[in-house]
Amino acid sequence: MEIQSDNYSIYIGNEVLQDFNRILEDCQEQYSKIFIFCDENSSRHCLPYLIEQVPMLIGAELIEIESGEQNKNLSICHDVWKTISESNADRNAFIVNLGGGVICDMGGMIASLYKRGVRFFHIPTTLLSQVDASVGGKLAVDLDGHKNQIGLFRNPDLVLIVPEFLKTLPERHWVSGMAEVYKHALISDAEYWLFLSELNLKDDTYLSAMLHKSISIKNEIVLEDWEEKGLRKTLNFGHTIGHAIESQALEKGRDLLHGEAIAIGMLVEIILSQMMNGFKDEDFETIKSVFANIFPLQKIDENELPDLIEWMRHDKKNDDAQINFTLLKKIGEAEFNKICSVDQIEEAIRTYNTRLN
Ligand SMILES: NC(=O)c1ccc[n+]([C@@H]2O[C@H](COP(=O)([O-])OP(=O)(O)OC[C@H]3O[C@@H](n4cnc5c(N)ncnc54)[C@H](O)[C@@H]3O)[C@@H](O)[C@H]2O)c1
Ligand SMILES: [Zn+2]
Repeated sequence: MEIQSDNYSIYIGNEVLQDFNRILEDCQEQYSKIFIFCDENSSRHCLPYLIEQVPMLIGAELIEIESGEQNKNLSICHDVWKTISESNADRNAFIVNLGGGVICDMGGMIASLYKRGVRFFHIPTTLLSQVDASVGGKLAVDLDGHKNQIGLFRNPDLVLIVPEFLKTLPERHWVSGMAEVYKHALISDAEYWLFLSELNLKDDTYLSAMLHKSISIKNEIVLEDWEEKGLRKTLNFGHTIGHAIESQALEKGRDLLHGEAIAIGMLVEIILSQMMNGFKDEDFETIKSVFANIFPLQKIDENELPDLIEWMRHDKKNDDAQINFTLLKKIGEAEFNKICSVDQIEEAIRTYNTRLN
């Protein structure tokens, strides 16, 4: 299966690695060296299969970092730049990003800035990175806990979605990835939401259809508005609150995954949608019960409200005076550039806490 994006393709299927091998064979003249960027988990679970399927990568140089969001920072980028520079990588080097959203976001940024940019390929190995992080050209690292503060837009040369890699993904990370899948449905496709809400996640016969649908939704939005001047902001649904919760957790050393934070963020932002946008209460209840079944939903500590508001003010989506949201009108329909006051945000968070009971 192929989905065409801006000036690159997204290939989906277990057989696409063989195609990748042929592509590398055909362009042998074009590259001087290949680096594979990964973390210890993608190295252990995915690299052997990748090399087996893509023998052209046998001589590639491996760059492995420690897994986790806390390593998505400039200091690690600096180390990697030093390593590839010491390996005499020139402008014709290729970088293959093999891993989750952390590896794709950071590896893409490392490739884009090294010698003003070398070519890179994304081979995402988590559900979250397959359906969301690897598509759309957003590359970034965190700065002092602020999510994705330093980064740029640049598309990869190719994205390869290989469902086989998901077989070793721990359930908690699978669930985290589902947050972005639900987000795609809630912002743009009521029928898809219905399909997802009735899914039995233990039965994976739906996987291929879900990957294709979610990637298509993301890709279509990005094709229309790559630079996030308008429509692409709808993909930030759940992320104004979610990123603040994630940053706070990172700072306090709490164990909270991106998707887990975004699931909570979406519920709070649906409450804001009820307050401001006429979103129906019965739909909130349905979404809440679907989410409560799979996500580890936690209450938000109300003593931390001022900290959360501070994170939101510093979020790059906002300016100092205003905090910007994407809210839902109904399931499948989102509106961006909705400003909410601090009072409204705090009220929504308190309501979330009471409605969680
Ligand atoms: N660029 C974008 O548009 C975009 C969109 C959404 C999210 N993101 C970013 O993506 C990141 C989250 O991505 P993520 O959830 O993939 O996190 P991640 O990269 O930390 O991966 C999650 C965990 O799974 C492990 N792992 C990876 N592949 C595996 C496999 N096949 N088997 C077993 N374990 C495996 C990793 O080592 C890690 O421990 C966040 O930093 C978020 O900001 C970016
Ligand atoms: Zn996200």
